[in-house]
Amino acid sequence: MTEKDFLPQPYGKLPESGRICWRAPSNIALVKYWGKGPDQVPANPSISFTLDRAATTTSVRFHKRNTREGFSFDLLLEGRPQEDFKPKIQTFFGRIGAYLPFLGAYHFEIETSNSFPHSSGIASSASGMAALALCLMDLERQIRPSMEPGDFHRKASFLARLGSGSACRSIAGQLVQWGEHPGIPGSSDLFGVEYPLALDPVFGTYRDTILLVHTGSKQISSSQGHRLVQGHPYATGRFAQARGHLDGLRPILASGDLQGFNALVESEALSLHAMMLASSPYFILMKPATLEIIEKVWAYRQRSGLPLCFTLDAGANVHLLYPAEVERQAMDFIERELKAHCQGGRYIADRVGKGARKIND
Ligand code: PMV
Repeated sequence: MTEKDFLPQPYGKLPESGRICWRAPSNIALVKYWGKGPDQVPANPSISFTLDRAATTTSVRFHKRNTREGFSFDLLLEGRPQEDFKPKIQTFFGRIGAYLPFLGAYHFEIETSNSFPHSSGIASSASGMAALALCLMDLERQIRPSMEPGDFHRKASFLARLGSGSACRSIAGQLVQWGEHPGIPGSSDLFGVEYPLALDPVFGTYRDTILLVHTGSKQISSSQGHRLVQGHPYATGRFAQARGHLDGLRPILASGDLQGFNALVESEALSLHAMMLASSPYFILMKPATLEIIEKVWAYRQRSGLPLCFTLDAGANVHLLYPAEVERQAMDFIERELKAHCQGGRYIADRVGKGARKIND
């Protein structure tokens, strides 16, 4: 498929007004996307667990207007006008305007709320852009009700990617792969696909306890981080490593090899942060508590033999991943040893989810 396949046929009559609401989850990458080309084309393929509780709920009210000049929208975050997020939405509308030509015909009131703190290293842009893309796709489906569910989801993922790359992995569940890779049928740089190969059921039971080490703003945004991968001395090696990790993950996912899973996922997390450490200018998003938690996870795994591992996003928070069967022991460990390293003792007990859903009034 190419970008052209997402350009719609001319529309018939447009609805006058209405309201649409979607809830889209965050996701946590197992093999990380870091570095991109123009139009949000990823430098390497990635794969993520879709989460469940960490999510963005967005409602869009639309009213037809008399002009089609530019775009017209208001934005509320957690019930308050949010002027500083507006340029992001303006850019997003600019990128997707050709694929949703009705955008200029409406004034939109966009209301969005997160179940977790924004700019905390939890992918609020991923769930936010996915929820908005789904609302807008829903409007396109009202205009063209014959749209197939597969086409709806694929185009929602395609549009979400143009808002924030990893957002294309926040539409479906449970495991989503994005980025062309010869070993993964149907994979594309343009949108995420549900992982199509053999998957041991243990992975559907995975928990992700997000240990909130630092919930303030990040010193470097992921857009800046992606830019610093251009011309990075380790870029070529890193892209090859990520592709190799995707190949390595295939037998692990098929057989439920949790030891192999832990080693690969932790290596990915540290490689992502190694890229940051070696950027020019260099930066560190981990905090001392991030490392203390990692050391405790390693010591606990050694001592208990239980299959827990950590991963990191572009931030200081630690995602502790483990299957449901060890949840009781994992929660004891978190309460006893890890909670003390979290800001205000806070964590989010999340799990693998099944993707975004429409919220009906
Ligand atoms: O989607 P972005 O531009 O916010 O980039 C996200 C990058 C990572 O979260 C660090 C990795 C990933 O694959 O989700």
